Amino acid sequence: MKIRKEVIKGVREICASHKGEPSPLMMILSDIQNKYGYIPLEVQEVVSEETGIPVAEIYGVVTFYAFFSVTPKGKYVIGVCLGTACYVKNSQSVIDKFCQLLKIAPGQTTEDGLFTIEAVRCIGACALAPAVNINGKVYPMVSPDKVEGIINEYRALEASN
Ligand code: FES
Repeated sequence: MKIRKEVIKGVREICASHKGEPSPLMMILSDIQNKYGYIPLEVQEVVSEETGIPVAEIYGVVTFYAFFSVTPKGKYVIGVCLGTACYVKNSQSVIDKFCQLLKIAPGQTTEDGLFTIEAVRCIGACALAPAVNINGKVYPMVSPDKVEGIINEYRALEASN
């Protein structure tokens, strides 16, 4: 996918805004992720040009942290918590159900670009385990039989837009 010129310009501006900081890479990548939703190789090359940091190093950071993504995420990012409190309450079966119904694996996005499923660590809602976070909204005590209803909620939202 060709990156648009204004994205390249925006990335250069983000790099410039962190110039002079002792170790700016994480901040630069966080800003890019937040603004554009992903950090493809072409963008990593621009960051490398601007900062002098080798692409291999940037790639290593982007792929190490789950927060960063090299491909675009869906409009709705479904984070199923697999932290300990949720895991012991069977959150694995919840993520399995999301995967089964949306026909994608964790880390993937549906073809229509609507949903991404992610396995996440503790989201600070252990008392509500198993917890699911969709674009910042936390769903408490989710069991596999509630998954279809949650997906339909977002499909209905899309249909009404
Ligand atoms: S372990 Fe899932 S919210 Fe804490």
